[in-house]
Amino acid sequence: MFDPDLLKNKTVIITGGGTGLGKSMAQRFGELGANLVITSRKLEVLEETAEEIRTSGASVLPVQCDVRKPAEVEKMVSQTVEEFGSVNVLVNNAAGNFISPTEKLSPGGFQVIVDIVLNGTFNCTLSVGQEMIKSGGGVILNIITTYAWTGSGYVVPSACAKAGVLAMTRSLAVEWAKHGIRTNAIAPGPFPTEGAWKRLVVPGLGIEKKIKKRIPLKRFGEQRELADLATFLISDGTGYINGEVVTIDGGEWLKGAGQFNDLDKVPNSVWKFMSKKR
Ligand code: HXC
Ligand code: NAP
Repeated sequence: MFDPDLLKNKTVIITGGGTGLGKSMAQRFGELGANLVITSRKLEVLEETAEEIRTSGASVLPVQCDVRKPAEVEKMVSQTVEEFGSVNVLVNNAAGNFISPTEKLSPGGFQVIVDIVLNGTFNCTLSVGQEMIKSGGGVILNIITTYAWTGSGYVVPSACAKAGVLAMTRSLAVEWAKHGIRTNAIAPGPFPTEGAWKRLVVPGLGIEKKIKKRIPLKRFGEQRELADLATFLISDGTGYINGEVVTIDGGEWLKGAGQFNDLDKVPNSVWKFMSKKR
C-alpha cells in the first residue's frame, strides 16, 4: 500500500505505544522507516514492544512517561530530541477508560480519565508543539472516538475528554498552521484490543455479537487498517489535510444516526406494497 521508505528520516512519538492500537501504529511506522519513541507508564511493556519492533530494523526508544505529569512529558521530549535530533510527528494515543453508570462515579473517577485523555494530550501537544515550532513544523495526530461528537452513556468521562481533544484538534489546526504544523484526528469504532476489551466489554452478555450486528460492515476493525490510515495521515503526501477527523468504524455511528436505517429488516413483500402509488 505504501512506499517502503515513506517515513524514512521521520521521528514519531506515540503515547501509549507499548500496547494495542499504539503498538500496531508503531510497528507499521517502523516498517516504513520511521524512528520511533514509544511512551507510557509501564517501562517493561515498552521495552518488550521495542524489542519486537526492532526486528524490522527500526530504531525504537522506549521512554517511561505519565502523560498527566508535565515534567515527565518535557523530559520525554528532550530525550527524543537528544536521540534523534528533532520530532516530526506526535500521535496522542494514550487513554484511560471504563464503563460505569454516571451516578455511581466519584469525582476522582471522572478526573482520572480527563487527566489522562484531555490534560495528557494537552501536555504532550504543548511540549512537542514548542519543539516543532522551533524546528519549522510537524504533524499532530490525535486518536479520539466517534462518541466525541455523539456522546455516549456509561462512558461520560471519556466522552467529555475526547470531545475536548476534538476541539483541541480543530483549534490548533488553525492556530498552528502558521508554524507548519498540521493537526488531525482519527475516530475509531470498535477495534478489539486487550486494554479496551477488558474494561469495556461486559462478559457473558453476548455484547460482542450485538456490536458486530449493528455495524453495517458486520465486523470489527483490524488494527492494521487503523495503522495504515494513521500512516497516510502523517505522511507528506497528505500535506493539505489539516483539522480533519477521519472516522474508521465500518459505518457504525451513522447506522445509529439515520432515522430509517433499520429498514434493512423490511421484507420484499412490504417494499412491493410501499411502492404502490397512494
Ligand atoms: C468506576 C473507577 C473505575 C471503574 C477506577 N475508578 N476504575 N470508577 N468504575 N471501573 C475510579 C477509582 O475509584 C478512583 O476514584 C479513580 O477512578 C482512579 O482510579 P485508579 O485505579 O487509582 O486509577 P489509575 O491506577 O491511575 O488507573 C487509571 C484507569 C485504568 C483509567 C482507571 O483503567 C487504566 O490504567 N487504564 C489505562 C488503559 C485503558 O483504560 N485503556 C482503554 C482505552 S479504550 P477515587 O474517587 O477513589 O479517587 C478506549 C476506547 C474508547 O478509550 C471507545 C471504544 C469503542
Ligand atoms: P490500550 O491498549 O489500553 O491503550 C491505552 C494506552 O495508554 C496503554 O498503552 C497505556 O499504557 C497508555 N496509558 C494509559 N494511561 C497513561 C498515562 N497516564 N500516561 C501514559 N500512557 C498511558 O487501548 P487501545 O484500545 O489500544 O486504545 C488506544 C487508543 O484508541 C485510545 O486513545 C482509545 O481511546 C482509542 N480508541 C480505541 C478503540 C478500541 O475499540 N480499541 C475505539 C475508539 C478509540 P500504560 O498502562 O503502560 O500507561
